[in-house]
Amino acid sequence: MTATHDIIIIGAGAAGLMCAATAGKRGRRVLLLERADRPGKKILISGGGRCNFTNLHVRPECYLSANAHFARSALARYTPRDFLDLVERHGIAWHEKTLGQLFCDGSARQIVDMLLDECGQGAVDLRCEAEIGNIAHADGLFSLNAGSDTVCAPSLVIATGGPSIPKMGATGYAYDLARQFGLKVVEPRPALVPLTLGGEEALFRELTGISADVSARAGKTRFREAALFTHRGLSGPAILQISSYWRKGDTIGIDFLPDHQGDWLLAAKRDQPRSTLSAQLRAALPHRLADALAERIALGGELGNLSDKTLRAAEQRLGDWPFCPNGSEGYAKAEVTIGGISTAELSSKTMEARKLPGLFAIGEAVDVTGWLGGYNFHWAWASGVAAGLAA
Ligand code: FDA
Repeated sequence: MTATHDIIIIGAGAAGLMCAATAGKRGRRVLLLERADRPGKKILISGGGRCNFTNLHVRPECYLSANAHFARSALARYTPRDFLDLVERHGIAWHEKTLGQLFCDGSARQIVDMLLDECGQGAVDLRCEAEIGNIAHADGLFSLNAGSDTVCAPSLVIATGGPSIPKMGATGYAYDLARQFGLKVVEPRPALVPLTLGGEEALFRELTGISADVSARAGKTRFREAALFTHRGLSGPAILQISSYWRKGDTIGIDFLPDHQGDWLLAAKRDQPRSTLSAQLRAALPHRLADALAERIALGGELGNLSDKTLRAAEQRLGDWPFCPNGSEGYAKAEVTIGGISTAELSSKTMEARKLPGLFAIGEAVDVTGWLGGYNFHWAWASGVAAGLAA
């Protein structure tokens, strides 16, 4: 059998498109196979339609993986500035929203069009609605049936993402393929996902729709962003971030007053002895939230009549309010998947499988998961470029 292409990439999402463009522009004959009717569907819905395409603060510490160092090499070789240069070369206007998060001024469609244009420059053969049959590997070539064609190439790139948002067609296909070729998979679970509350804590449902600027903690990891009460539990950026560090059975802590210095209630007792906890909280938080917290702490009466010990205990609780989520909203609502194809199987420089040269895995399919805020697309770009330069 002779090769029809140099590289076959399965999945025309963020990572697959970037990999295809990079390899194509190097003169490689690239076939990019996509099951959906068009490429880059998750890019199109990302960032509220404006695609949070990277983050100025990308660094390896912003990624979770069984090997915390794995992402280092690819991220060092393809930086946010590199992606911004590409965006600017294509005349796409952008802005920083907050915390280094970069968005298109216009629409996420511009990012997909940019990547398709780059693929065009590399003469990438993109085929959508591709139903891929069995994939075989023999004599150094990967071969598969795509529709009525049999195609084969010495390099195969797995770029089919993770199972988050199944209603968009997301599945664990990447893991099945990896296992077929003997690669290990780190148990996947939903990440950047709202958490659900039950039992006594379900009483917080009365606060549905209320959000506050908090500091959320899981273990020693903290995120200072907004949290939102929902009819099922907790959401908002601070909770989505912390969900990636949370395991079932763990408690998370919420600091509802992250700007308040220690002993602030004692200071309030001294300066306003006739004030109440509820009044103090109302000055800093949405009133319904303030009242709900004050009611649960149940410090009756004026601050001047309460002991310092009681006030310190209240402060402590407000600064690290424990919630024990009974679960998460699962893949249906998870922005990404944690876990995936084990990094121990891959070269961190090229994303190539150590056991099977010619096989590559990139993007969300791999056990590298970023924080909320453009970090996951940046991993897709960086890992896509790493494989595109090597395959
Ligand atoms: P991705 O899922 O993008 O692409 C995989 C591709 O493979 C898809 O096109 C799929 O159809 C295709 N495929 C799957 N199985 C196949 C098969 N058997 N045969 C052929 N093709 C197959 N991140 C970020 O950094 N900034 C943001 O603003 C957002 N916003 C956001 C919003 C929402 C609602 C979600 C769900 C996610 C985000 N993300 C994000 C996360 C981001 O979308 C995600 O990290 C990347 O899309 C991952 O890129 P991949 O290319 O790895 O997978």
